[in-house]
Amino acid sequence: MKLILLGAPGAGKGTQAEVICDTFHIPSISTGNIIREAVKNGTEMGSMAKEYIEAGKLVPDEIIIRIIKERLSAEDCKNGFILDGVPRTVAQAEALDALGVEIDRVLNIEVKDDVIMKRLSGRRVCGACGASYHVQFKPSAKPEICDRCGGQLIVRKDDEPATVRERLAVYHEQTEPLVDYYTAKGKLVTVEGQENVEDTSRLILAALEGRG
Ligand code: AP5
Repeated sequence: MKLILLGAPGAGKGTQAEVICDTFHIPSISTGNIIREAVKNGTEMGSMAKEYIEAGKLVPDEIIIRIIKERLSAEDCKNGFILDGVPRTVAQAEALDALGVEIDRVLNIEVKDDVIMKRLSGRRVCGACGASYHVQFKPSAKPEICDRCGGQLIVRKDDEPATVRERLAVYHEQTEPLVDYYTAKGKLVTVEGQENVEDTSRLILAALEGRG
């Protein structure tokens, strides 16, 4: 299964990618996590991307296309993958098409902006593996410790309210056009994000298994 997860920042793409990964045994590829790792490690790409990510802007398409081309050529992508947060411009979608990547389904998770503002203020992420939690909606078993790898949970720098507002504006302007792009290709399935993680997962798995 080759799947794209589309949705605003904080819509729950990363959270649902973990569920889909565990269910279908395919890797999840988050360009956000790849870039944050590069920033942490101080690589050349990381230092180029840092100012964009911290300002809530999109990293230039050519950097993203390079990342995705390299990652999709890895052995673990042979039986399918989930693209979490990429493509997020029409130019990135066209680049994927040009690479000959045949996407089966594009899952669009819809959540209203005011709900997203609330969600991102309570998000915690693992500084080591990138797993995502929420202080109220998806707490870790031990406070501030990742259930998956035991890493320290942190607040993402770009979850500050002013930056979230900018990320939402960028989403509506540059990423939302992909809804029409993939609808025209007959690939889009829209799922309304629910008030809790499990209800959203149920709708997504039903849609992927053709029950939705
Ligand atoms: P990225 O890391 O991809 O961030 P994003 O798309 O802004 O999305 P988020 O990770 O913030 O949210 P999410 O939808 O994964 O939600 P989550 O599951 O965590 O990108 C960051 C930056 O990198 C970009 O701004 C850009 O600069 C750059 N970048 C990355 N990819 C790029 C690209 N392709 N092109 C250009 N630039 C790129 O959930 C959010 C919170 O809500 C969590 O706390 C979670 O526990 C909680 N939650 C989830 N679902 C529910 C629910 N149903 N009910 C209640 N709470 C819920």
